[in-house]
Amino acid sequence: MSSIKRLLVCGGSGFLGRRICEQAVAHGWTVTSLSRSGASAFKDKIPKWANQVDFKSFDISKASSDELQPLVESSDAVVYSLGILLESNYYKTFAKSQSPLEGISSVVQKWNRNPLKHRIDDEISYELMNRDLAVRLAKATSESATITKPFLYISAAGEFPGIPQAYFKSKEQAESSILAIPSLRPIFLRPGFMFDPANSMTMTIAMGLRAIGTVNSMLGGNAPIISREVLKPLSTSVVAGAAIKALEDESVHGVIAREDLINLAKEASFNA
Ligand SMILES: NC(=O)c1ccc[n+]([C@@H]2O[C@H](COP(=O)([O-])OP(=O)(O)OC[C@H]3O[C@@H](n4cnc5c(N)ncnc54)[C@H](OP(=O)(O)O)[C@@H]3O)[C@@H](O)[C@H]2O)c1
Repeated sequence: MSSIKRLLVCGGSGFLGRRICEQAVAHGWTVTSLSRSGASAFKDKIPKWANQVDFKSFDISKASSDELQPLVESSDAVVYSLGILLESNYYKTFAKSQSPLEGISSVVQKWNRNPLKHRIDDEISYELMNRDLAVRLAKATSESATITKPFLYISAAGEFPGIPQAYFKSKEQAESSILAIPSLRPIFLRPGFMFDPANSMTMTIAMGLRAIGTVNSMLGGNAPIISREVLKPLSTSVVAGAAIKALEDESVHGVIAREDLINLAKEASFNA
C-alpha cells in the first residue's frame, strides 16, 4: 500500500512530465506541477485530468531554499523531470526534416558543428539543469521530512550521436550526488528516446530509430554510431507508468534501466 497522497512534479507541463501528472491523477494522488510557464501545455482541448493538477508557475533556477522548502514539505514524493536544452532543440530540428533519417542526420550535423549551441544562454547549462537544480531539490526533499521520501530523477540511457558527453556526464553526476543524500529513496529512470502519440514527430523519429535498429540487428548489432538502448524508443506512457509504480513501491530504489522500466510499467498497468 502506497503512503503517497501528494506528488510534486517538477516539469509537469513537459513532454514526459505531463504523462506522469496524468497517471498520478488516475492513481488518485493530489498533484502539483512546477514550471516557469505554470500552464498545463494544453492549448485547445484541456483533458479532464489536467484540471485536477495544480500547475504552479515557479522557476526552480531562481527559487530560494525558503521558497522551495514549503513545496517539498507538503509533498510525499518528488519527481524531477526538467529538461530544456536537448529537447527544445531537437524537436525543432526534426520538425524541419523530411524524414526520420534526415532528421537524425541534421541533428547530428547541427550538434557536431557547435555543441555549445545547446546553451540557451550562459546561465543555463547541462550542469545547472540536469545536475545542480536536481541535487538542490533532492537535498530540500531530504531535509523536509522526518520520514524517508522518494525522489525520482529522470536520467537518460546510452548515447545519441552528436549529443555532447556533457549531457550524459551531468546526468551521471546528478545520480551519484543524489545517491549520497541521506534520508531519501532515490530512483533514477534511464529511458532512451521517448515518443508520444500526441506528438506525431516523435512517432516518426521512433519509427526511424526502430528501422535503424532492425538493420543494425541484421548486420549483427555492430553499428558503431548509436547505442542499442537508443534504437529501442519507449513511449512516455510506459516511462510514466514505471515512475508511478517505482514511487509507490517502497522496495524500488536506484537505477532503473530499460528492461526494469518496462517491467515496472507492466506491473503498474496490471494493478490499475
Ligand atoms: N524526451 C526524450 O526523449 C528524453 C529521453 C531521455 C531522457 N529525457 C529526460 O527526461 C526529462 C524530461 O524531458 P522532456 O522531454 O519531458 O522535457 P521538456 O518537454 O522540455 O519538459 C521540461 C519541463 O521542465 C520545465 N522547466 C524547464 N526549466 C524550468 C525551470 N527553470 N523551472 C521550472 N520548470 C522548468 C518546462 O516548463 P517551462 O518551460 O514552462 O518552465 C517543462 O515542463 C529531461 O531530464 C530529459 O533529459 C528525455
